[in-house]
Amino acid sequence: MTYSKIAGTGRYLPERVLTNFDLEKIVETSDEWIRTRTGVERRHVCADDETTSDMCVEAAKVAIEDAGIDVSDIDFVIVGTTTPDLIFPNIATLIQHRLGIPACTAFSLEAACTGFIYALTTTDKFIKAGGTKCALVIGAECITKLVDWKDRNTCVLFGDGAGAVIVKPSDEAGIISCHLGADGQYKELLYYPVGASKDLHKAGTDDVAITMKGNEVFKVAVKTLGNVAKAALDAAGIDKSELDWLIPHQANMRIIQATAKRLGLPLDKVIVTVQDHGNTSAASVPMAFDVGIRDGRIQRGQLVLMEAFGGGFTWGSVLMRY
Ligand code: ACO
Repeated sequence: MTYSKIAGTGRYLPERVLTNFDLEKIVETSDEWIRTRTGVERRHVCADDETTSDMCVEAAKVAIEDAGIDVSDIDFVIVGTTTPDLIFPNIATLIQHRLGIPACTAFSLEAACTGFIYALTTTDKFIKAGGTKCALVIGAECITKLVDWKDRNTCVLFGDGAGAVIVKPSDEAGIISCHLGADGQYKELLYYPVGASKDLHKAGTDDVAITMKGNEVFKVAVKTLGNVAKAALDAAGIDKSELDWLIPHQANMRIIQATAKRLGLPLDKVIVTVQDHGNTSAASVPMAFDVGIRDGRIQRGQLVLMEAFGGGFTWGSVLMRY
């Protein structure tokens, strides 16, 4: 049996750091409110001229070096993002060209905060179907450019970044089970109101920003993340007590705590980066994964469960032996 195995990881965070104390000067909020309601202490924010592909290229270079491969080995590039540089060409082609990767399959997909889980699951299917030998998989977001910096309900939550992994076929496990889901009935709870075919001319004006019913998102997120984690474990016949690490989407510390509780996992088995990164949407899971590997917590052979939830709603989980 062929598995998809992680060969290397990398992340990139923009240089500029915005602390809760910095935000106190922009909107009516406090470090205390933000920390107790969300767990966020600081977040990284792209420079005005910095794009999502700039971050992807840097994260990918680190992952490529970590995997010990050459760019010429890569034959598949996929990016989960809601904030591509351009409407087209797709951002994966920009990255393929900028890194000097030979012409190959390169595309992006949009599943909001679940973008990386969707991209990794798609890659797993391509690898298992045969033909794909070395994939560059990225979750990246420049979400702060969609935020209304006058809206304290949302602007305190988000940050920018990119996380990348190299995935190769292997006889050893590997990705064991993947679960994806989506239900558009929840669109009104979390959305960005303009796009390529709707009101594009309004983008960048004061009327347009991320719209969110935080309380309701919270409730559905906790329930759904618990269910999708269980689905991945059940499909693989693995008990939650066997898990070494949970890598949840880093939206809010209280969502992370509630999800860990539903899984019966102590918090010391959960990789948490929300305090330093904020909610980086599609970048949150691959960056947290990279943090856990590089600080020595996540070891080869350990059982890792990733999960995410985002606008749509979309949700997903990936269970793997690292
Ligand atoms: N500073 C100070 N006060 C604030 C702030 C702020 N930044 N933001 C809101 N408030 C106020 C509100 O105005 C409200 O005041 P009021 O009672 O006088 O009306 C009060 O705080 C409570 O507001 P709630 O929205 O009820 O606060 P809650 O405890 O639900 O926390 C939060 C809000 C943090 C957004 C929470 O609901 C949440 O995390 N929801 C999940 C949403 C999320 O994570 N979205 C990200 C994208 S989706 C995803 O990634 C899963």
